[in-house]
Amino acid sequence: MTKARRMMEDKLGRADVVLEVLDARIPRSSRNPDFDDLFGEKKRIAVLNKADLADPAVTKRWTSDFNKAGIPAVAVNASSSGARKRILACLKEVIEPEAQRLKEKKGIRKTACVMVAGIPNVGKSTLINCLSGSGSTKTGNKPGMTRGNQIVRITPYLELMDTPGLLWPKLDDEQGARYLAFTGAIKDEIMDTHSLCLHLLGELVREYPDNLAQRYKLDADILQQDSPEDILQKICRKRGFIGSGGVPDEERGAATVVNEFRSGKLGAISLERPGGQDEEDIHG
Ligand code: G4P
Repeated sequence: MTKARRMMEDKLGRADVVLEVLDARIPRSSRNPDFDDLFGEKKRIAVLNKADLADPAVTKRWTSDFNKAGIPAVAVNASSSGARKRILACLKEVIEPEAQRLKEKKGIRKTACVMVAGIPNVGKSTLINCLSGSGSTKTGNKPGMTRGNQIVRITPYLELMDTPGLLWPKLDDEQGARYLAFTGAIKDEIMDTHSLCLHLLGELVREYPDNLAQRYKLDADILQQDSPEDILQKICRKRGFIGSGGVPDEERGAATVVNEFRSGKLGAISLERPGGQDEEDIHG
């Protein structure tokens, strides 16, 4: 058993509910498949984070799919002020039935403990900061708890572990690994930026040609006939990324496209859709 998984299990023992943070642009690839097994019967909420960067219509379908599968889901931008309220509302819905039952049976109102979990870069720390914002107080380490795992009270009946549960993504599927690289969830050193960019351009041309055309002032009608390499060269020319001898500086162009996708400058884009993986994903 890996260290990360052992640490996660240790934390899980303390948690009443898990906020499983996913990247709304790639909800499938940003889920560690071990989570289902790890969480077991534990109550959980799927937080589709970075929803500001994803296609709202696709995100809506994802939330409805999760809900149908019995996993309450909420789409948020953890960097925005509205996220806290929306997540607390969702948490209340999940926790309230059991809390009411206990109150009626034993006359006590139990404080529920929330844990944030996910793969790197999906926004776990941002979400913890957002939830433990003003009005919350640190209540110190719980006995027997790993040092550094502080508990923060976020409402009278809700407390939050201030360090997230972290699991690495599974990289056995080439397409999934590429999606993780597009979003920056796996380091650029693992995949060469030039080839990553060509794959990304291939995806964008198929599903979001207007975003691409608008951002780089390209002709949307011609884009479909161009190869990703042609498009990259055109982008380089438009941006003035020309090296010695008038050759397009493709490395610079590729880094620019990938960074602009990651930061949302290319618009709100979803790379994965719910439903059958083979039918509905945008494939490269
Ligand atoms: P992690 O703990 O899961 O590893 O993720 P973390 O919170 O560190 O967030 C990773 C990056 O994603 C950060 O950007 C963070 O600002 C950004 N982020 C988190 N949630 C959202 C969101 O809902 N929308 C958008 N657009 N971005 C989000 P960074 O560039 O690494 O750092 P910085 O910009 O905060 O300096």
